[in-house]
Amino acid sequence: MLPPPIDQGTVLIIGATEGIGRELSRQLSRRVRTLVLVDRRAGRLEPLRDELLARNPTLGVLVHQCDICDPHQVDALLAFLEAHFVRVDVLVNNAAVGNRGLYAEERWGQVEETLQANVWAPALLTHRLLGPMLQRGRGGVLNIGSGAAQLFLPGSATFAATQRFLDGFTEALRLEVEDRGIAVTRVAPGPLWEAGVEDWEGGVAPFFHISLARCAREALVGFERGAPLVYPGFGHRWVMRLLPLLPRRLKRSLGRLALRGLERETLLSPQAPGLAAGRQVLLAGEPSPA
Ligand SMILES: NC(=O)c1ccc[n+]([C@@H]2O[C@H](COP(=O)([O-])OP(=O)(O)OC[C@H]3O[C@@H](n4cnc5c(N)ncnc54)[C@H](OP(=O)(O)O)[C@@H]3O)[C@@H](O)[C@H]2O)c1
Repeated sequence: MLPPPIDQGTVLIIGATEGIGRELSRQLSRRVRTLVLVDRRAGRLEPLRDELLARNPTLGVLVHQCDICDPHQVDALLAFLEAHFVRVDVLVNNAAVGNRGLYAEERWGQVEETLQANVWAPALLTHRLLGPMLQRGRGGVLNIGSGAAQLFLPGSATFAATQRFLDGFTEALRLEVEDRGIAVTRVAPGPLWEAGVEDWEGGVAPFFHISLARCAREALVGFERGAPLVYPGFGHRWVMRLLPLLPRRLKRSLGRLALRGLERETLLSPQAPGLAAGRQVLLAGEPSPA
């Protein structure tokens, strides 16, 4: 398999201004010819563009505001790429929505948004951008998923299921295009931390945490080596490798424990929205893989 055309290429990053997407943008800004930064909130794209240009004044940067859950905005993004004659060499499907709440008590709108951001949008964008890559015989798709794909996660039924979609999608797509010059990789991180931000509430041992910067670095190394799947971080990687060896029965027991933990957490913290009250906690990243 050819390595993805990162050096001097054009890389499109969805969800570029926060978290892993921002770290990928920073690390790629030293190497690529052009970055196309896409995110949904106004006012965050331009500061990132200016930061990256300050680091590398020869970098080409295009920014576009787009909510990938909105089909019209995705059409507008594709039209924007066409209008600017952008030839996307590498697509990074990074933006995702995670939520916590008992499925029956979730708002349907929240379930729908999770499905659209985590399933519909990466599928559509890949479909639209893969054809031209295949015509050129070079390209890459980097799907940022989650270790949650391997877990039975009560309280995150929709999120965990969307991660299974990304797993199956990435593996099948890779087999279809690996001999045609296209690199396809899924990254499945565990708990991450950002320097200066102490917002992790998952109760996971620090051994499993890695920084966003390291996650992005390991993602890129794996992608360029042609790895089908990257589990960033030593501790997380070993847990993820051992999980498939567990019988489903045992995984269900772990899921029950996770549910008890979630209920306790909700009951003990007066600030935490109650599961029983049907309110949901929007997560920046993924739920606790306890
Ligand atoms: N952080 C973790 O611990 C962790 C662990 C495992 C896996 N992951 C995975 O890594 C990826 C990135 O996670 P992250 O923690 O870096 O996320 P993040 O900090 O929330 O950043 C994601 C970016 O994508 C944007 N975004 C979300 N929905 C969007 C939409 N519909 N349209 C356009 N942009 C949208 C977000 O905007 P808003 O700020 O407006 O939401 C944000 O700027 C996700 O796929 C996640 O599942 C993260």
